[in-house]
Amino acid sequence: MKESLEGRTAIITGATGDIGAAIAQEYYKLGANLILTGRNEQKIKELAEKMPRNTDFVILDLTAFDAETKLVDYTIQKFGSIDILVNNAALIEGKLFLKTGNDFLHKAFEVNFFAPYRLMQKTLPYMLKNKFGRIINITSLAGETGDAGMSVYAASKAALAGASKSIAAEYGRRNITTNCIAPGIINTESTKFISKDYADNIKNQIPIRRFGKPEEVASLAAYLASERASYINGQVININGGLYR
Ligand SMILES: NC(=O)c1ccc[n+]([C@@H]2O[C@H](COP(=O)([O-])OP(=O)(O)OC[C@H]3O[C@@H](n4cnc5c(N)ncnc54)[C@H](OP(=O)(O)O)[C@@H]3O)[C@@H](O)[C@H]2O)c1
Repeated sequence: MKESLEGRTAIITGATGDIGAAIAQEYYKLGANLILTGRNEQKIKELAEKMPRNTDFVILDLTAFDAETKLVDYTIQKFGSIDILVNNAALIEGKLFLKTGNDFLHKAFEVNFFAPYRLMQKTLPYMLKNKFGRIINITSLAGETGDAGMSVYAASKAALAGASKSIAAEYGRRNITTNCIAPGIINTESTKFISKDYADNIKNQIPIRRFGKPEEVASLAAYLASERASYINGQVININGGLYR
Protein backbone atom coordinates (compact mmCIF):
# COMPACT_ATOMS: atom_id res chain seq x y z
CA MET A 1 0.00 0.00 0.00
CA LYS A 2 1.14 3.45 -0.93
CA GLU A 3 2.72 5.96 1.40
CA SER A 4 2.86 8.43 -1.48
CA LEU A 5 0.18 11.11 -1.83
CA GLU A 6 0.81 11.55 -5.52
CA GLY A 7 -2.36 12.40 -7.41
CA ARG A 8 -4.18 13.29 -4.18
CA THR A 9 -5.46 16.79 -3.50
CA ALA A 10 -5.35 18.10 0.05
CA ILE A 11 -6.77 21.20 1.71
CA ILE A 12 -4.82 22.25 4.80
CA THR A 13 -6.30 25.04 6.91
CA GLY A 14 -4.09 27.15 9.13
CA ALA A 15 -1.02 26.50 7.01
CA THR A 16 0.50 29.75 8.25
CA GLY A 17 0.87 28.20 11.70
CA ASP A 18 3.82 25.97 12.58
CA ILE A 19 1.94 22.67 12.63
CA GLY A 20 -0.03 23.47 9.46
CA ALA A 21 3.17 24.49 7.65
CA ALA A 22 4.91 21.28 8.72
CA ILE A 23 1.96 19.19 7.46
CA ALA A 24 1.99 21.11 4.17
CA GLN A 25 5.72 20.45 3.71
CA GLU A 26 5.35 16.75 4.50
CA TYR A 27 2.44 16.35 2.07
CA TYR A 28 4.39 18.24 -0.57
CA LYS A 29 7.32 15.84 -0.19
CA LEU A 30 4.88 12.96 -0.68
CA GLY A 31 3.64 14.48 -3.93
CA ALA A 32 0.17 15.84 -3.03
CA ASN A 33 -1.54 18.74 -4.78
CA LEU A 34 -2.06 21.35 -2.10
CA ILE A 35 -4.43 24.17 -1.29
CA LEU A 36 -3.21 26.02 1.78
CA THR A 37 -5.20 28.53 3.79
CA GLY A 38 -4.45 31.22 6.35
CA ARG A 39 -5.08 34.89 6.97
CA ASN A 40 -1.46 36.07 7.00
CA GLU A 41 -0.74 36.84 3.36
CA GLN A 42 3.01 37.24 3.70
CA LYS A 43 3.46 33.97 5.59
CA ILE A 44 1.36 31.95 3.21
CA LYS A 45 3.15 33.35 0.18
CA GLU A 46 6.54 32.54 1.72
CA LEU A 47 5.41 28.99 2.43
CA ALA A 48 3.92 28.45 -1.02
CA GLU A 49 7.14 29.72 -2.64
CA LYS A 50 8.98 26.80 -1.04
CA MET A 51 6.62 24.44 -2.87
CA PRO A 52 6.73 25.36 -6.54
CA ARG A 53 4.88 22.29 -7.81
CA ASN A 54 1.07 21.90 -7.59
CA THR A 55 0.61 24.21 -4.60
CA ASP A 56 -1.72 27.15 -4.31
CA PHE A 57 -3.24 29.10 -1.46
CA VAL A 58 -6.41 30.92 -0.48
CA ILE A 59 -6.22 33.77 1.99
CA LEU A 60 -9.37 33.68 4.04
CA ASP A 61 -10.88 34.05 7.45
CA LEU A 62 -12.70 30.80 8.08
CA THR A 63 -15.37 32.65 10.03
CA ALA A 64 -16.32 34.81 7.04
CA PHE A 65 -19.66 34.16 5.38
CA ASP A 66 -19.42 31.16 3.05
CA ALA A 67 -15.63 30.89 3.41
CA GLU A 68 -15.81 27.12 3.03
CA THR A 69 -17.70 27.36 -0.28
CA LYS A 70 -15.09 29.74 -1.63
CA LEU A 71 -12.28 27.42 -0.55
CA VAL A 72 -13.86 24.25 -1.91
CA ASP A 73 -14.89 25.88 -5.23
CA TYR A 74 -11.36 27.21 -5.68
CA THR A 75 -9.84 23.78 -5.00
CA ILE A 76 -12.14 22.05 -7.47
CA GLN A 77 -11.47 24.67 -10.11
CA LYS A 78 -7.73 24.26 -9.61
CA PHE A 79 -7.32 20.48 -9.16
CA GLY A 80 -10.69 18.93 -9.98
CA SER A 81 -11.04 16.89 -6.79
CA ILE A 82 -10.57 16.83 -3.01
CA ASP A 83 -9.19 13.71 -1.36
CA ILE A 84 -7.78 14.94 1.94
CA LEU A 85 -9.00 17.61 4.34
CA VAL A 86 -6.87 18.71 7.26
CA ASN A 87 -8.79 20.95 9.65
CA ASN A 88 -5.84 22.44 11.49
CA ALA A 89 -6.67 26.16 11.94
CA ALA A 90 -7.74 27.10 15.44
CA LEU A 91 -8.21 29.94 17.83
CA ILE A 92 -5.89 29.01 20.66
CA GLU A 93 -6.66 31.40 23.44
CA GLY A 94 -7.17 30.94 27.14
CA LYS A 95 -9.68 32.75 29.34
CA LEU A 96 -10.66 32.13 32.92
CA PHE A 97 -14.10 30.58 33.17
CA LEU A 98 -15.75 33.50 34.95
CA LYS A 99 -14.15 35.98 32.54
CA THR A 100 -15.43 34.18 29.46
CA GLY A 101 -17.98 36.27 27.61
CA ASN A 102 -20.49 35.25 25.00
CA ASP A 103 -18.59 36.85 22.13
CA PHE A 104 -15.44 34.86 22.85
CA LEU A 105 -17.44 31.67 23.32
CA HIS A 106 -19.03 32.08 19.91
CA LYS A 107 -15.85 33.17 18.14
CA ALA A 108 -13.83 30.21 19.44
CA PHE A 109 -16.55 27.73 18.47
CA GLU A 110 -16.87 29.40 15.08
CA VAL A 111 -13.17 28.84 14.27
CA ASN A 112 -12.60 25.55 16.12
CA PHE A 113 -15.85 23.72 15.52
CA PHE A 114 -18.36 25.30 13.11
CA ALA A 115 -15.83 26.11 10.36
CA PRO A 116 -14.24 22.61 10.37
CA TYR A 117 -17.72 21.07 10.50
CA ARG A 118 -18.93 23.05 7.50
CA LEU A 119 -15.74 22.29 5.61
CA MET A 120 -16.25 18.56 6.19
CA GLN A 121 -19.81 18.93 4.85
CA LYS A 122 -18.62 20.76 1.74
CA THR A 123 -15.72 18.42 0.94
CA LEU A 124 -17.42 15.11 1.65
CA PRO A 125 -19.47 14.97 -1.60
CA TYR A 126 -16.20 15.13 -3.57
CA MET A 127 -14.71 12.33 -1.48
CA LEU A 128 -17.84 10.25 -2.08
CA LYS A 129 -17.42 10.85 -5.79
CA ASN A 130 -13.76 9.72 -5.61
CA LYS A 131 -14.63 6.70 -3.44
CA PHE A 132 -11.73 7.81 -1.26
CA GLY A 133 -11.38 10.36 1.49
CA ARG A 134 -9.24 11.21 4.45
CA ILE A 135 -10.48 13.74 6.98
CA ILE A 136 -7.95 14.68 9.63
CA ASN A 137 -9.02 17.04 12.38
CA ILE A 138 -6.39 18.48 14.67
CA THR A 139 -7.88 18.48 18.13
CA SER A 140 -5.95 18.64 21.41
CA LEU A 141 -5.07 16.74 24.55
CA ALA A 142 -6.97 19.54 26.32
CA GLY A 143 -10.15 18.29 24.62
CA GLU A 144 -9.83 15.09 26.62
CA THR A 145 -8.26 16.24 29.88
CA GLY A 146 -9.43 19.86 30.09
CA ASP A 147 -7.04 22.56 31.23
CA ALA A 148 -7.29 25.54 33.55
CA GLY A 149 -8.23 28.67 31.61
CA MET A 150 -9.06 26.64 28.50
CA SER A 151 -12.71 25.68 29.05
CA VAL A 152 -13.87 27.01 25.68
CA TYR A 153 -10.90 25.74 23.68
CA ALA A 154 -11.13 22.30 25.33
CA ALA A 155 -14.89 22.12 24.73
CA SER A 156 -14.53 23.10 21.07
CA LYS A 157 -11.91 20.39 20.52
CA ALA A 158 -14.03 17.79 22.34
CA ALA A 159 -16.95 18.78 20.09
CA LEU A 160 -14.81 18.29 17.00
CA ALA A 161 -13.69 14.87 18.23
CA GLY A 162 -17.31 13.84 18.86
CA ALA A 163 -18.40 14.99 15.40
CA SER A 164 -15.43 13.21 13.80
CA LYS A 165 -16.30 9.89 15.41
CA SER A 166 -19.89 10.22 14.21
CA ILE A 167 -18.86 11.12 10.64
CA ALA A 168 -16.44 8.18 10.74
CA ALA A 169 -19.34 5.91 11.65
CA GLU A 170 -21.48 7.25 8.80
CA TYR A 171 -18.93 7.21 5.99
CA GLY A 172 -16.36 4.53 6.83
CA ARG A 173 -18.11 2.08 4.51
CA ARG A 174 -17.62 4.54 1.65
CA ASN A 175 -13.81 4.41 2.06
CA ILE A 176 -13.74 7.78 3.80
CA THR A 177 -11.91 7.77 7.10
CA THR A 178 -12.24 10.51 9.70
CA ASN A 179 -9.72 10.77 12.49
CA CYS A 180 -8.35 13.30 14.93
CA ILE A 181 -4.81 14.02 15.95
CA ALA A 182 -4.66 15.28 19.52
CA PRO A 183 -1.31 16.92 20.23
CA GLY A 184 0.00 17.50 23.72
CA ILE A 185 2.42 20.42 23.82
CA ILE A 186 4.23 21.15 20.58
CA ASN A 187 6.95 23.76 20.11
CA THR A 188 5.18 26.44 18.05
CA GLU A 189 4.43 30.16 18.09
CA SER A 190 1.33 29.39 20.14
CA THR A 191 3.30 27.72 22.95
CA LYS A 192 6.15 30.27 23.04
CA PHE A 193 4.36 32.20 25.79
CA ILE A 194 4.86 29.33 28.28
CA SER A 195 7.31 30.47 30.97
CA LYS A 196 10.54 28.52 31.43
CA ASP A 197 9.61 27.41 34.96
CA TYR A 198 6.21 26.13 33.87
CA ALA A 199 7.73 24.47 30.79
CA ASP A 200 10.38 22.71 32.89
CA ASN A 201 7.71 21.51 35.28
CA ILE A 202 5.55 20.08 32.48
CA LYS A 203 8.54 18.52 30.72
CA ASN A 204 9.20 16.59 33.91
CA GLN A 205 5.72 15.07 33.59
CA ILE A 206 6.32 14.03 29.98
CA PRO A 207 7.99 10.62 29.83
CA ILE A 208 9.91 11.72 26.70
CA ARG A 209 11.01 14.87 28.65
CA ARG A 210 10.51 17.43 25.91
CA PHE A 211 7.79 19.18 23.93
CA GLY A 212 6.90 17.79 20.52
CA LYS A 213 8.00 19.11 17.16
CA PRO A 214 5.58 20.21 14.41
CA GLU A 215 7.29 17.69 12.09
CA GLU A 216 6.31 14.87 14.46
CA VAL A 217 2.65 15.86 14.15
CA ALA A 218 3.10 16.20 10.38
CA SER A 219 4.49 12.70 10.12
CA LEU A 220 1.35 11.27 11.77
CA ALA A 221 -0.85 13.44 9.54
CA ALA A 222 0.97 12.05 6.48
CA TYR A 223 0.43 8.48 7.63
CA LEU A 224 -3.28 9.05 8.28
CA ALA A 225 -3.69 10.63 4.83
CA SER A 226 -2.09 7.70 3.05
CA GLU A 227 -3.57 4.44 1.82
CA ARG A 228 -1.56 2.69 4.52
CA ALA A 229 -3.93 4.02 7.19
CA SER A 230 -6.97 2.50 5.45
CA TYR A 231 -8.24 0.67 8.56
CA ILE A 232 -7.88 3.56 11.03
CA ASN A 233 -11.21 5.30 11.39
CA GLY A 234 -13.02 7.25 14.11
CA GLN A 235 -9.94 7.56 16.30
CA VAL A 236 -8.45 10.36 18.33
CA ILE A 237 -4.75 9.67 18.20
CA ASN A 238 -2.72 11.25 20.95
CA ILE A 239 0.72 12.60 20.18
CA ASN A 240 2.07 13.91 23.43
CA GLY A 241 5.23 12.09 24.47
CA GLY A 242 3.20 10.11 27.01
CA LEU A 243 1.81 13.13 28.89
CA TYR A 244 -1.46 12.34 30.65
CA ARG A 245 -2.89 14.22 33.55
N1 LIG B 1 0.95 23.96 19.53
C1 LIG B 1 0.46 23.10 20.39
O1 LIG B 1 1.08 22.79 21.44
C2 LIG B 1 -0.87 22.46 20.17
C3 LIG B 1 -1.36 21.57 21.13
C4 LIG B 1 -2.59 20.96 20.93
C5 LIG B 1 -3.31 21.19 19.79
N2 LIG B 1 -2.81 22.06 18.86
C6 LIG B 1 -3.62 22.29 17.66
O2 LIG B 1 -2.81 22.23 16.52
C7 LIG B 1 -3.32 23.10 15.51
C8 LIG B 1 -2.25 24.05 15.03
O3 LIG B 1 -1.70 24.73 16.14
P1 LIG B 1 -0.44 25.72 16.04
O4 LIG B 1 0.24 25.65 17.35
O5 LIG B 1 0.34 25.47 14.78
O6 LIG B 1 -1.22 27.08 15.97
P2 LIG B 1 -0.87 28.52 15.39
O7 LIG B 1 0.59 28.60 15.10
O8 LIG B 1 -1.49 29.50 16.32
O9 LIG B 1 -1.68 28.48 14.04
C9 LIG B 1 -3.06 28.62 14.04
C10 LIG B 1 -3.47 28.69 12.59
O10 LIG B 1 -4.89 28.88 12.54
C11 LIG B 1 -5.17 29.95 11.66
N3 LIG B 1 -6.38 30.65 12.07
C12 LIG B 1 -6.73 31.07 13.30
N4 LIG B 1 -7.91 31.72 13.27
C13 LIG B 1 -8.32 31.68 11.97
C14 LIG B 1 -9.46 32.17 11.27
N5 LIG B 1 -10.45 32.85 11.89
N6 LIG B 1 -9.55 31.95 9.95
C15 LIG B 1 -8.59 31.29 9.29
N7 LIG B 1 -7.47 30.79 9.88
C16 LIG B 1 -7.35 30.99 11.21
C17 LIG B 1 -3.97 30.87 11.75
O11 LIG B 1 -3.92 31.67 10.58
P3 LIG B 1 -3.22 33.13 10.52
O12 LIG B 1 -2.06 33.10 11.48
O13 LIG B 1 -2.79 33.25 9.10
O14 LIG B 1 -4.25 34.09 10.95
C18 LIG B 1 -2.84 29.85 11.83
O15 LIG B 1 -2.49 29.41 10.55
C19 LIG B 1 -4.52 23.82 16.15
O16 LIG B 1 -5.70 23.15 15.79
C20 LIG B 1 -4.28 23.65 17.65
O17 LIG B 1 -5.46 23.69 18.39
C21 LIG B 1 -1.63 22.71 19.02
